[in-house]
Amino acid sequence: MATATGTDAGASYRAAGLVAEDIDAFLEQHRHKSLLRFIACGSVDDGKSTLIGRLLVDSRTVFDDQMAALEADSRQVGTQGGAIDFALLVDGLAAEREQGITIDVAYRFFSTETRKFIVADTPGHEQYTRNMVTGASTADLAVILVDARKGVLTQTRRHSHLVHLLGVRHLVLAVNKMDLIGFDRARYEAIVAEYRGFAEGIGIDGVTAIPVSGLGGDNVATRSEAMPWYDGPTLIAHLDAVEVDAVRDQGRPFRMPVQWVSRPDPQFRGFAGLVASGTVRPGDPVRVLPSGRTSTVARIVTLDGDLPVAVAGQSVTLTLADEVDCSRGDVLAAAGAPPEAADQFEASLVWMADEAMLPGRSYWLKLATQTVTAQVHAPKYQVNVNTLEHLAAKTLELNAIGVVTLSTDRPVVFEPYGDSRTLGGFVLIDRISNATVAAGMIRFALRRAQNVHWQAIDISRESHALQKGQSPALVWFTGLSGAGKSTIANLVQRRLHALGRHSFLLDGDNVRHGLNRDLGFTDADRVENIRRVGEVAKLMTDAGLIVLTAFISPFRAERRMVRDMMPAGEFIEVHVDATLADAERRDVKGLYAKARAGLLNNFTGIDSPYEPPEHAELRLDTAALTPEQAAERVVERVLRAQDRAGG
Ligand code: ADX
Repeated sequence: MATATGTDAGASYRAAGLVAEDIDAFLEQHRHKSLLRFIACGSVDDGKSTLIGRLLVDSRTVFDDQMAALEADSRQVGTQGGAIDFALLVDGLAAEREQGITIDVAYRFFSTETRKFIVADTPGHEQYTRNMVTGASTADLAVILVDARKGVLTQTRRHSHLVHLLGVRHLVLAVNKMDLIGFDRARYEAIVAEYRGFAEGIGIDGVTAIPVSGLGGDNVATRSEAMPWYDGPTLIAHLDAVEVDAVRDQGRPFRMPVQWVSRPDPQFRGFAGLVASGTVRPGDPVRVLPSGRTSTVARIVTLDGDLPVAVAGQSVTLTLADEVDCSRGDVLAAAGAPPEAADQFEASLVWMADEAMLPGRSYWLKLATQTVTAQVHAPKYQVNVNTLEHLAAKTLELNAIGVVTLSTDRPVVFEPYGDSRTLGGFVLIDRISNATVAAGMIRFALRRAQNVHWQAIDISRESHALQKGQSPALVWFTGLSGAGKSTIANLVQRRLHALGRHSFLLDGDNVRHGLNRDLGFTDADRVENIRRVGEVAKLMTDAGLIVLTAFISPFRAERRMVRDMMPAGEFIEVHVDATLADAERRDVKGLYAKARAGLLNNFTGIDSPYEPPEHAELRLDTAALTPEQAAERVVERVLRAQDRAGG
């Protein structure tokens, strides 16, 4: 009895023979097969490895590395029916893999006469949710395995919920190990009935149930003689027959996220990308989003010459009849049926990083070829992945799934994930470490995004500043509690005042008595503290002021966020650098003593981190400088910036 594992190539002789005889014919035949990606969900005990091994053995399996080569090959060329859509999630996670964080997804390749298959094999336990998400995000189909002796388990429900959430349209319930229950029809039907009841309850329809034995091969590739009562398809027959997403996508309106802009010939600019949905022909009217400009497709250029038509799944370069502005990140779409653009969304989020989500922190959001800055707000709720209950939550931890709202700094061209995985799926990336921290699925845009518009104001930022005879600046002091931020900032302000400059000082202890009195000292509250202070400081610079802020502001990410909000050159980061020992020795407010005595939690430097700046405009060594000398340096630096700006 064969129990081959994925790389066991024992049964690949036939295919290997064909490859040896006529490699070109083989490749040609192979390239035009459609591709089905699926994920196998279950734990080792369910016989998942055995079933996958059986699929490889009983299909006309090709060696893994040959398939990988074919894969790379068809990726370059762009395939006809078989959309090799390496979704952005996987691209995002590739970066993570390079950083040595393990994503445990094994991909196996096999093929039949009809199709090529890529199966994602992921561990099934709850702590591996992020791996399952990775495997399922690109899958057309999921095989949910249950052990016939055990029936539907908690993890069966969890896997089903996850693949449903990730938009997997076809579900196969493989009731495995039928041999161990004597191929008992009644038991099988009871399991299927229970599962269907659950599946309908969460909105999954179209489940195909198949009684199998991975070990004996029953109903995998060949019909089981032991189960004459089963008249449905074998697993492989079903995998060969279901509609792949690429085919459905071809029936939807045309969309192509622009990957890059090239010049295929001196006359035309070409817009290259993967057609995400629909078809496109020369002469078709198209719209560039988000700008909304329209033009007509002139040519469809590929390495193999111009095409009369391109469909979802193909990588092409389009040229347009007019010179319109269009760059990487824009989306080309059917002019009459364009997708929306919005900057506030409700989305499902799967948190994938060890460090919990920080509401208010800015992350990079990558959606198709667009990259924007996004802030995630506190979750509306978290989902218990085992029971589907909604739980109240302030954050999302590793492997947690929740529904959140987020806002982006620029409009994003999107479609709900249910309509388009390409334009509805995104990843969040930590701006400092570049690690992928979450995968997201857009549910809808918030209507307030469309109804709150930026109000143009007649008196500009420049006029405000001009009236005060200066140019605005934000001098951002950062450092440990007791380092001397407030003292130095205060001296700087007195000096600027004496010089006739208009300034304002925002100080941590003061702001926390008013605007931010609802905030404490958890990481999340500190993030929100700095976000609000950043926004207020920005408004004050819009009023033409030189703003000084004195906050510990312990995290690089938030200091960076405020820096990015400001026009170039207006953000002056000043690191008031004191060693913890010095700050603690001074202990002006007696707080270090309290913290050491265990009377104060989350104290910066003790049990809460401080991330010193790496590229501050100014570092003040408080051990070497008096507060007056330190202040003088800051004033010099501010005045220099004024001169440069012509203030
Ligand atoms: S920040 O981390 O969010 O930037 P902020 O500068 O507003 O902090 O407030 C720091 C001030 O709050 C300190 O100077 C200290 O007086 C007081 N404080 C009270 N509790 C803490 C704590 N746990 N950690 C740091 N500072 C604290």
